[in-house]
Amino acid sequence: MFRFVARSAAGKHLLRRGYATESVPDRKVAVLGAAGGIGQPLALLMKLNPLVSQLALYDIANTPGVAADVSHVNTRSEVAGYVGEEQLGKALEGSDVVIIPAGVPRKPGMTRDDLFNINAGIVKGLCAAIAKYCPNALVNMISNPVNSTVPIAAEVFKKAGTYDEKKLFGVTTLDVVRAKTFYAGKAKVNVADVNVPVVGGHAGITILPLFSQATPKANLAEEDIKALTKRTQDGGTEVVEAKAGKGSATLSMAYAGAIFADACLKGLNGVPDVVECSFVQSTVTELPFFASKVRLGKNGVEEVLGLGPLSDYEKEGLENLKPELKASIEKGIKFANQS
Ligand SMILES: NC(=O)c1ccc[n+]([C@@H]2O[C@H](COP(=O)([O-])OP(=O)(O)OC[C@H]3O[C@@H](n4cnc5c(N)ncnc54)[C@H](O)[C@@H]3O)[C@@H](O)[C@H]2O)c1
Repeated sequence: MFRFVARSAAGKHLLRRGYATESVPDRKVAVLGAAGGIGQPLALLMKLNPLVSQLALYDIANTPGVAADVSHVNTRSEVAGYVGEEQLGKALEGSDVVIIPAGVPRKPGMTRDDLFNINAGIVKGLCAAIAKYCPNALVNMISNPVNSTVPIAAEVFKKAGTYDEKKLFGVTTLDVVRAKTFYAGKAKVNVADVNVPVVGGHAGITILPLFSQATPKANLAEEDIKALTKRTQDGGTEVVEAKAGKGSATLSMAYAGAIFADACLKGLNGVPDVVECSFVQSTVTELPFFASKVRLGKNGVEEVLGLGPLSDYEKEGLENLKPELKASIEKGIKFANQS
């Protein structure tokens, strides 16, 4: 197939396929924490995404090297590196999507909540800058504990008068990626065909994979479903322990972050029926934030989809996760409002 990218008079990129012409809008993506374990492979994967025209890589250290390296890849986007707080505004200005993997990762024996004290402050500062420099951007929050960092971001944006619940996302895609991989292995089906919604939150038992809705159907035994659920919930810890003090998931997380950002960009560009699970402001349960399937559109969240029919085991898991998720959300809101 004949394919090239050219600039139109209006400065927009035009993507031509044979005789059919469709426009691909310019889109700026900023990665905050771009020199980190997740940030670097995520920067590479976003450089490979043809929907991105400008890629801004920001960190408190080491971004010039990462940006120089990634910029040599011969794909559409122009790459710029920004280092230190005085360059944060420039990194953010004009961004359509901001991805945040800034912060410290877990070490063996730590829960995601143990990261709260350091990461809450980092996220708060970065979100204040987003409110100032790119208040309309979609924000993809990767920094843990996501169950608290998303409510913190919401509070920061509310205070700045820029909060739009359609534009704030906790990235839970890695839970979906893991659930798909583990299910395909157990059910002996092609992993590329597998779909599994994962709802709730992004820590331990708050991660609730809905294997009763998994496709292709496999009729797995109850104990297999329980083992798959536990492995999905503990997937992050599996990596933390295997890395033995050298951090948490970075490569699979970068992959998951790139999938989610791509879905956001497709939604912004008007591609229909883009659906991914994400931790968003929600009325699906009584909790103010909850992860479920979300339809993405030109303004971010187009529709938060319901849970669908649950098995008895999943209904029990849903009730069990609520107190922990509620406490994590409240902890985030309290932090944002008292500090
Ligand atoms: N959502 C998920 O599924 C998921 C999965 C894995 C890890 N994580 C989280 O992602 C975060 C990053 O993990 P990592 O392994 O890349 O850690 P890392 O330590 O390798 O990298 C973090 C980067 O953030 C940078 N940073 C620190 N403070 C900053 C600030 N104020 N502004 C900009 N950058 C800043 C650091 O300089 C570093 O380069 C952690 O909070 C981790 O728990 C989330």
